[in-house]
Amino acid sequence: MSDCKALFCKVNKIEGSEPSEMERKHTPVIEIPDTITAGEFFDVKIKVGEIAHPNENEHFIQWIELYIGKVHLGRFDFVAVMTKPEITIPVVLSHAGLDSSFRAISRCNMHGLWEGSVNVKVA
Ligand SMILES: [Fe+2]
Repeated sequence: MSDCKALFCKVNKIEGSEPSEMERKHTPVIEIPDTITAGEFFDVKIKVGEIAHPNENEHFIQWIELYIGKVHLGRFDFVAVMTKPEITIPVVLSHAGLDSSFRAISRCNMHGLWEGSVNVKVA
């Protein structure tokens, strides 16, 4: 089985401390404010990836899903060429002391599923 086919058998993540070019092109990058206050909206920004992923009819990012922990918050579908796999979505978390993580999962039509995450602490 080639490496490319193996990518479709799992949710791929950055492995180790030196991400490969493949990992850096595909892993969603999530930006949130340093301080999050319970009950107040803040912007969650997601892009794929740390370095630009191809955006062509033959090779593109099809969608991104956003979760807080295991709770699904949204899904964003893209078309090739005409849209860029970057989103900004306002989110409010109601529980002070919540210690969880935002997870974004994206799908590349050629290289499968990729997950990025960032820890969140609500004050
Ligand atoms: Fe790809």
